[in-house]
Amino acid sequence: HKASSSITRFPLIPVRGVPLMNYIANNWDSIWAFRPDPSDLLIATYPKAGTTWTQEIVDLLLHNGDAEACKRAPTPVRSPFLEIVSPPPIPSGLDLLEKMDPPRVIKTHLPFQLVPPGFWENKCKSIYVARNAKDNLVSYYYFDLMNQTQPEPGPFGGYIHKFMQGELSWGSWYDHVKGYWLEREKRNILYLFYEDMKENPRREVERIMKYLDLSVSDEVVSQIVELTSFKNMKENPMANYSCVPSPVFDQSISPFMRKGEVGDWKNHFTAEQSKLFDEDYEKQMKDVDIPFRTLI
Ligand code: A3P
Repeated sequence: HKASSSITRFPLIPVRGVPLMNYIANNWDSIWAFRPDPSDLLIATYPKAGTTWTQEIVDLLLHNGDAEACKRAPTPVRSPFLEIVSPPPIPSGLDLLEKMDPPRVIKTHLPFQLVPPGFWENKCKSIYVARNAKDNLVSYYYFDLMNQTQPEPGPFGGYIHKFMQGELSWGSWYDHVKGYWLEREKRNILYLFYEDMKENPRREVERIMKYLDLSVSDEVVSQIVELTSFKNMKENPMANYSCVPSPVFDQSISPFMRKGEVGDWKNHFTAEQSKLFDEDYEKQMKDVDIPFRTLI
C-alpha cells in the first residue's frame, strides 16, 4: 500500500514542555478544546502501562462480559485515543469521538496538566494505570522499535537516559505518574497499578466495576478475568492491534502483546544500569510515596 509506505517516524515537538509527536503538537488547540460529556470515562496512562488491558476490562464490564459484543471493532475504534492524529486518511481520535454517542471510553497518554480541562469541569470519571518504571521502560523500548511512527529508540543504554530525562514521546514517566497521583483524591481518579492487576486480576476487575457503579455477577467477573488474560488478548484480533497495518506497527520486530510480565526488566538492565537508574529514581521520586513494585 503506497500511502502506508510513506509512514515515517515523526519528530517530537514540545507542548508546554512535553514532547509530543508533531501531528499532535500541531493540532494542540483542538485537542485542548475537546469537551467530553459528563458520562464519558477517561483511561489515562503513560504509554505501555497497561492501557489496552484496562480498555478491554472496561468494555467487557460495560457489556456484562459479552465476548462477542467486545469483538465488534478493534480497541482504538471501540475506545478512541483522544490526542492521536495521523496523516490522512487515518481518522484522528477527535474524528472518531465526534461520530460516537456518549458514554464513551476515551484513552489518553497525556500527562495530567495537558488533559483537556473539560474532563474535570464535567466531573468525568477517570482511571489511571501506572506501571513500575523499569518494566514500563522496557515495554516502551520494544514498542518504539516496532512502531514506525515513534522516534527511533536507539541502543538500550541510551534509551534509559532518554527515559530518565523525560525525552520520550509523552514526556517524563516520573512527572506523569506523580501528576495523576497528586490529583487522584480531588479529581476522584481510580489509580491502579499494572502489578496489582497481574497479582490479582479479579480484585482489580472488581475495583473497576465498583468505581463505575456497575454490578455484574461473580460468574461474569470470572469470565472477564479469563477473557482479559494476556494469552487471550494476544490471540484476540480485536485487542492485539493486528488492525494496524504492518508498515506502521511492525509486529514481526516485536508483537504488541509482547510478554505481559512483571520483572522482565531483569532480563534487560545490567547491574550497572540498574544501579544508576535506581539512584536517579530516588532523586526524581523523593517528593512522593507511590507504592510501585518492580517484582511481585
Ligand atoms: P509488555 O511489552 O511488557 O509485554 P499499553 O496497552 O499501555 O500499550 O501496554 C502494553 C503492555 O501491556 C505490553 O507490555 C503488553 O504485553 C501488556 N499487556 C497487554 N494486555 C495485557 C494483559 N491482558 N495482561 C498483561 N499484560 C498485558
